[in-house]
Amino acid sequence: MYIVFEGIDGAGKSTQINLLKYWLTENGFDVEKVVEPTDSEVGKLIREMLQRSDATTDKVQKALGLLFAADRMLIMDKLNDDSKVILSDRSFISSLAYQKPVEWIKQINKYAKEPDLVLLLDMDVKTSVNRCSKDDVFENEEFLKEVRTNYLELVGDFNHAVIDATNGLNKVSIDIKKAVAPYMGICPDCIR
Ligand code: TYD
Repeated sequence: MYIVFEGIDGAGKSTQINLLKYWLTENGFDVEKVVEPTDSEVGKLIREMLQRSDATTDKVQKALGLLFAADRMLIMDKLNDDSKVILSDRSFISSLAYQKPVEWIKQINKYAKEPDLVLLLDMDVKTSVNRCSKDDVFENEEFLKEVRTNYLELVGDFNHAVIDATNGLNKVSIDIKKAVAPYMGICPDCIR
């Protein structure tokens, strides 16, 4: 099972992944968490490049698109481990939402693993920007508005749930568990 968390920055993905990991582990599943960009050499380069003031320009976005795709290839073995539940903080769907053009991004991610379930932690851009540390060039309203719109359209191609991430931490966590439960043979009505 490969479950992917997506959403604009500040939606609370990492906190919610940890909560879901704890709950699934308690329910007897072998769970592994992965994060994109990874801590590989390519991932480190990506994090450096994200600090550039020109990171949203076309040329840097294209370079980043290629790097994100390369970074992703380095964790393919992990993602293909069928004995585990893999919870991923982002996936190639982030590239489809953040980088462009979308058809080219699809091509360069042709070997990326398809998720079994996408959890889109959705929130309005204003709340997201207020929650962010603002040290990332992608964390500007105009850019994130486009990314949010892209996400809402893109998830239609996958098994997905759109989770309202503006609710409190506990409500969001329950909504996520209810979305995941049917895939794990757990009764969704038993979750509170
Ligand atoms: P992330 O680590 O989630 O952000 P942070 O640690 O700053 O909260 O991701 C770093 C940034 O990279 C984030 O703004 C989203 C962006 N990103 C892409 O543009 N394309 C991608 O394919 C991925 C995986 C991330």
